[in-house]
Amino acid sequence: MEQRRIAFIGAGNMARSIIAGLVASDYPAALITATAPSETRRKPLENEYGINTTDDNLTAANDADVIVLAVKPQMMEEVCKPLQILDLSSKLVITIAAGIVSSRYNEYLGQPLHLVRVMPNTPSLLGLGMSGMYSAPSLPTQDKDFADALMKAVGKVCWVEAESGINNIIAAAGSSPAYFFLFMEAMEKEAIAQGFDAHTARELVQQSALGAAEMVKANAELSLATLREQVTSKGGTTAEAIRTFNEHQLSDTVSSAMKAAVSRAEEMEKLF
Ligand SMILES: NC(=O)c1ccc[n+]([C@@H]2O[C@H](COP(=O)([O-])OP(=O)(O)OC[C@H]3O[C@@H](n4cnc5c(N)ncnc54)[C@H](OP(=O)(O)O)[C@@H]3O)[C@@H](O)[C@H]2O)c1
Repeated sequence: MEQRRIAFIGAGNMARSIIAGLVASDYPAALITATAPSETRRKPLENEYGINTTDDNLTAANDADVIVLAVKPQMMEEVCKPLQILDLSSKLVITIAAGIVSSRYNEYLGQPLHLVRVMPNTPSLLGLGMSGMYSAPSLPTQDKDFADALMKAVGKVCWVEAESGINNIIAAAGSSPAYFFLFMEAMEKEAIAQGFDAHTARELVQQSALGAAEMVKANAELSLATLREQVTSKGGTTAEAIRTFNEHQLSDTVSSAMKAAVSRAEEMEKLF
């Protein structure tokens, strides 16, 4: 990965996980600065990763080649406005905020930008993220490659050609950890109802989900349908459970849920 000076504006959970991933992959900590108003937020980052921290967004952004905007969406405009006085023409700006379309950043920062919009998901905190990425076609390849490598420090990435594709990534990856939690929650509840204590029920569900995900990963050449068929003997217990899911239109429910996530993402974009 190319080495550039990076300023994270905002040093919360997501910035921290990207910083952790970078440092673990031997990116020089001396090239990384993170900003946050509170010292209690900054100090642990200095101590743990050896990076620089400050409460001075303007100086950090000015000194950097790459600015990663990592504050909450509702803070974004307020945080960007003071940076308008900088000449950002030679810098790459990467935003990880949910729900703000890229054209808004030109307004927030008062100039045309080299911008990449990223939609990470929560497993990024464990280095198992799945991030959606978008940039305008005019973005230089070197900048695109840099953003790509940055997010690969916390998982996998998927670039979309049209920015609206970010909302489809939200439906498939951004929101989807919660779908799996919901499914696991329902299974845990039923396992308890069938007589297991809470700890055992959790372990039965959690380990099966982990095993299933690992099997999917280890058998990339097999379709999901084939994997399912391989563990579903005719007339057996699994077949009976699957028949029940199908009877209740699981596939249609999932499809409606993902469409609802896209609609909500579109609505939220209008708030900023
Ligand atoms: N966490 C996720 O799973 C996830 C997933 C997708 C997208 N995102 C996006 O990632 C962004 C960050 O989320 P997060 O979960 O990391 O949030 P977070 O933990 O709340 O972190 C926000 C950070 O912004 C800092 N901050 C507040 N005001 C600031 C200012 N004026 N200047 C500089 N920094 C300031 C906060 O510092 P103090 O603590 O000192 O106030 C804190 O370090 C959000 O836009 C969110 O939409 C997060």
